[in-house]
Amino acid sequence: MLRTHTCGQLNISDVGTTVTLCGWLQRARDLGGMTFIDLRDRYGITQLAFNMVTDAALLADARKLSREYVIQVTGIVIERSSKNLKVPTGEIEIEVKTLNVLNAAKLPPFTIEDDTDGGDDIRMQFRYLDIRRNAVKQNLLLRHKVCQLTRSYLDQQGFIEIETPVLIKSTPEGARDFVVPSRMNAGEFYALPQSPQTFKQLLMVAGMDKYFQIVKCFRDEDLRADRQPEFTQIDCEMSFIEQDDILQVFEGLTSYIFKNIHQINLPNFERISYQTAMNLYGNDKPDMRFEMKFVDLKSTVIGRNFKVFDDASYVVGIVAPKCANYTRKQLDELTDFVKRPQIGATGLVYIRCNDDGSIKSSIDKFYSENDLQSIAQTSNAKAGDLILILAGALNKTQKAMSELRLEMGQRLGLRTPGVYKPIWVVDFPLLEFNEEQNRFFAMHHPFTSPKTDDFHLLESNPGAVRANAYDLVINGVEIGGGSIRIHDKQLQNKMFNLLGFTPEEAQEQFGFLLNAFEFGAPPHGGIAFGLDRLCSMIGGTDSIRDFIAFPKNNAGRDVMIDAPSAIDQKQLSELSIAVIK
Ligand code: AMO
Repeated sequence: MLRTHTCGQLNISDVGTTVTLCGWLQRARDLGGMTFIDLRDRYGITQLAFNMVTDAALLADARKLSREYVIQVTGIVIERSSKNLKVPTGEIEIEVKTLNVLNAAKLPPFTIEDDTDGGDDIRMQFRYLDIRRNAVKQNLLLRHKVCQLTRSYLDQQGFIEIETPVLIKSTPEGARDFVVPSRMNAGEFYALPQSPQTFKQLLMVAGMDKYFQIVKCFRDEDLRADRQPEFTQIDCEMSFIEQDDILQVFEGLTSYIFKNIHQINLPNFERISYQTAMNLYGNDKPDMRFEMKFVDLKSTVIGRNFKVFDDASYVVGIVAPKCANYTRKQLDELTDFVKRPQIGATGLVYIRCNDDGSIKSSIDKFYSENDLQSIAQTSNAKAGDLILILAGALNKTQKAMSELRLEMGQRLGLRTPGVYKPIWVVDFPLLEFNEEQNRFFAMHHPFTSPKTDDFHLLESNPGAVRANAYDLVINGVEIGGGSIRIHDKQLQNKMFNLLGFTPEEAQEQFGFLLNAFEFGAPPHGGIAFGLDRLCSMIGGTDSIRDFIAFPKNNAGRDVMIDAPSAIDQKQLSELSIAVIK
């Protein structure tokens, strides 16, 4: 070992001990006859002291060092004269006797401090320097802890970790695949898995009973703060279970992780149906830290010659508590917010329920005071509240109101950091219709089983069939999703048929699974959590990139290694690929 201790380890009880430490030079302070150096490693920072009186030559050597040099020092632990009680090592320093430069360092392109001067791009390009900073390092440590807790919990529950292949077959459903050309099979391609879905189902047919894997998944889709092209799932599958069993096990896992990391007991995991979530929050992943539920106002507002409401198929309101005194400027800001192209509303109607009981609105021309009172009553608004109303087509207006609800929650400080409200959203629709392609797509994936109660609708009204599918949502973020699977070949074939596959196409794409179902497939189901999202939720930030050691940027690039990149002609020829420019 090149060291006897780490930089986070020594304290007052070690005074008098001779120690050897290694690390990076975080900062040096020259004070006339003395130089102090902060030496940093993964575990912390220890102050080194060099003194003109004890060793002038050593002091001169120390003064030649600069930031991020890698050094080794040997010295004696002494008590500091001016202590820093904010850090664990703040009561001591090392009176250095020998100094050894293990490696010189160029000046880093940004400061390696908690508050760095480096922008996003430069920190991504030099990610190995960024990881030296506490903020990023702590996130990676947190991720490690979440993985350890997951493994220990699932192991205790009898799950076994099994690896599934990374080079698999491209399938048409889901997001776009990343593909890998096969040199040995000219003109043919592997795909990288979007998830190990079919493999984990095959493991159930194989009798493994309870499987899990912390596994990389790859999806070629548009990127956002909570989406990376390669991300990690905590992926699980169980046999001989029902939906309730899965929800219980994974509620247990989530609570176990939060308890061990934040020392908090999560509240009960409420369950709400997809339909209720859409009706009350306009969103299948509602933030439940605050109420502000949707109120359907259509029947209360029609028939007053206000065209916007009369022509709209959907009129919806929310009540912002204690906001009746919002200024004109604040209301204009909200109107601008909903009119932004990403939100797409044409306008915003407001009703102020004043403290003195009077009521005023932006639609006074069409609605009498009595009319407004009855809207307030339907909305359950009290004196001092502000009612915000949007109108239009159902889907678009639900989406816009959901954004406005979140914005108001934010403005009113109701999305409290450190408060966690987990819910299960259940009974998702099995299928969703895509107007452009004029066909149904599986809302979760094609292996999800319909609810038994809805079997009879499969032929007559497929859009109304509910699935045995569920999502775990915490504070408005979809952390995980899963379903009870189809385990019967006939039903699986029927599903493929609904999705527009001919029997031949279904056999060609998914024959391996359909065939396996003929060899005794047990009833089974499972779930996958997004590990990156779970970590960023626990860590309290929105961006999953902060919890990935080497993430891609929004254009899907790794700017550190400069990937993706062109490959040379020889490699292309070996892969039988001709590039069309
Ligand atoms: P699903 O597609 O819902 O289900 O994915 C499960 C969870 O993975 C996370 N996730 C992502 N995280 C980061 N970047 C992405 N691009 C990304 N895409 C998804 C989300 C999501 O809830 N095989 C099924 C699971 C099952 O049925 O068992 C599946 O993959 O947190």
